Amino acid sequence: MSTPANSATPLVGIVMGSDSDVGVMQAATNVLKDFQIPYEMTVASAHRSPEKASAFSATARSRGIKVIIAGAGHAAHLAGVLAAHTTLPIIGVPIDSSCLQGLDSLLSTVQMPPGVPVATVSIGKPGAKNAAILAAQILATSDDRMAERLERYKADMAAGVAEKAKKVEALT
Ligand code: RP5
Repeated sequence: MSTPANSATPLVGIVMGSDSDVGVMQAATNVLKDFQIPYEMTVASAHRSPEKASAFSATARSRGIKVIIAGAGHAAHLAGVLAAHTTLPIIGVPIDSSCLQGLDSLLSTVQMPPGVPVATVSIGKPGAKNAAILAAQILATSDDRMAERLERYKADMAAGVAEKAKKVEALT
């Protein structure tokens, strides 16, 4: 398990099915850093190391984790296995690592049976980014400073769109 140096107790746990997923999942860690959310990150596989995946999830609440982000590709059962072992919210990121470019992972992650939800975001890096923003939003339900950071983030996005609009409108 890796935790960023000098950080407080991790609030978000990131698990990915393989080290080959890390390039995608860094889209999530970048956002968590921007929002100053301490996180831990590891590799565990629903199929290759199911005991580790289960233990990560089963012990997450007692470690202080509030939200888990799970990224996996191919027949992506990782988020579902994690959801089976905790009552914490699980956000699933379908990774586009297979010949089917993540459509397989999307369906495997989103099509959970009733009773065991996984909040599934979009495929690949955009999904990983949104997973971290969603985690921040979940934390912000009980953290006013986090809510303020999210307000600023949205205002900055809107300002960025206004800039783009100006550029495009100048072409007319
Ligand atoms: C999945 O299989 C992983 O999440 C990864 O996306 C994919 C390929 O894994 P490697 O063969 O690169 O380890 O379980």
